[in-house]
Amino acid sequence: MTLATAIDPGPLGSLKIAPSLLAADFGALAEAVAAVAPGSDWLHVDVMDGHFVPNITLGPPVVASLRRHTDLYLDCHLMITDPGEYLEPFARAGAQGVTVHAELGDLEHVIAETRALGMRIGLAANPDTPFEALDRYLDAVDLVLCMTVFPGFGGQAFMPEVLPKIAAVRQAIDERALSCELEVDGGIDATTAPLVVGAGATILVAGSAIFGADDPLAAIAALRGAAGAH
Ligand code: DX5
Ligand code: ZN
Repeated sequence: MTLATAIDPGPLGSLKIAPSLLAADFGALAEAVAAVAPGSDWLHVDVMDGHFVPNITLGPPVVASLRRHTDLYLDCHLMITDPGEYLEPFARAGAQGVTVHAELGDLEHVIAETRALGMRIGLAANPDTPFEALDRYLDAVDLVLCMTVFPGFGGQAFMPEVLPKIAAVRQAIDERALSCELEVDGGIDATTAPLVVGAGATILVAGSAIFGADDPLAAIAALRGAAGAH
């Protein structure tokens, strides 16, 4: 039963900038979306449950509100212990993709249910989760998200030790000709973007580098320029 709203994610493997609303003013989300929309490919929505990570943010009702204010692809990063309980509410709310964490263990059922609801499925890995934990799912997911900080909070420092894992995922995607995007999240700015793009990432999530800037659209343009210059 397909519930999700169909929105084109864009060409596989093209550079995409996904501002993370975690760094926006939660009291003025519609304005924040409007401020970045002209330069954005996706919007990244960080969902935290106070259990999988030590922070609480938002859930399906806020995604439903966002959906009424934008036609952008909503890339929902589920930092929650029990994603299977919330897939249908996210699909009904208007999410196009959900990304679940590899640290949760067996994800076959969650992957199948996400697809049945008409959403795209991503698989996220914390900085210390090895490539081997991702490998068995690479043929089954639409996206791999390599966290370059430990999830829970924006504004943390980029962890360069994740770069070899990003390169390993890219190598596997290319060698096996997989239809899988490679996204990075955490401490991404115009300085770190060339590093992750050089390692093979094509979707850049950025919170503080965009919403913390005086001119968010100029910050997005700077990210694109830096990514293109790797
Ligand atoms: C962290 C979130 C990130 C966060 C990134 O747990 O998953 O999406 O918003 O923020 P910056 O870009 O500030 O590191
Ligand atoms: Zn995120």
